[in-house]
Amino acid sequence: MIGTVLVVVAMRAEAQPIVDRLGLEPVDGVPAGLPFAWHAGSVGGLQVAVTTNGIDPRHGVDNIATQPAALNTYVSIDRWAPDLVLTAGTAGGWAARGADIGDVYLSGGDLVFHDRRIGIPAFDEYGHGRYPTVDAAGLAARLALKTGVVTTSNSLDDPEPDRSIMRAHGADVKEMEAAAVGWVTWLLGVPVMAVKAITDLVDHHTETAEQFQANLAMATDRLSDAVTAVLSDIDGRTVAELA
Ligand code: ADE
Repeated sequence: MIGTVLVVVAMRAEAQPIVDRLGLEPVDGVPAGLPFAWHAGSVGGLQVAVTTNGIDPRHGVDNIATQPAALNTYVSIDRWAPDLVLTAGTAGGWAARGADIGDVYLSGGDLVFHDRRIGIPAFDEYGHGRYPTVDAAGLAARLALKTGVVTTSNSLDDPEPDRSIMRAHGADVKEMEAAAVGWVTWLLGVPVMAVKAITDLVDHHTETAEQFQANLAMATDRLSDAVTAVLSDIDGRTVAELA
């Protein structure tokens, strides 16, 4: 049975509604020098820890993208020994693939990098990552959430070389952390699932950054609804029972 769930989140604005909804409390003990922040508590029969990637002191912004996500995931798995990791946050989607602003997707396939282009045999496949996620088809159906392929890069934009990799993988959701989290969960053998709320449509004429800022509060609210519903559904189940 799933006992402990670790929720890895990049931005404070993404994490705060989840922390508030679940009534989690700050927990000390992040290794010295690392910027991450932990909140934890009991949610039904689960122990839930939310970790955020912290702030860059030079720029005063959240440590988004892949290096903080990977390091945070390692340190937080080491501390919380979770039975399941959720990589939760906001993301871009495509109207042409059925996405609407505010939709929440669960991962429906491997976590893939879409900007690691290495044209050397074997390194090309290594670059794409393809880290497995748990089969959450049953969970998604019970909660009426969409499922889709989540792909990751270190950029908010979508230049052509990235687009063709996203197309090749059938990307439904584009964001900046999940595959980095997936690398660590794969290395350590911990089941992982992405929960991503859509702030922007990549195929809309409005700039991604403008859409993101306009829709962040609404999408993070939807994200906290979805994470709360996911936790309530998985309470009392095994990972295999999420399929
Ligand atoms: N986070 C939210 N929207 C995104 C997008 N379009 N690309 C990458 N990360 C995002």
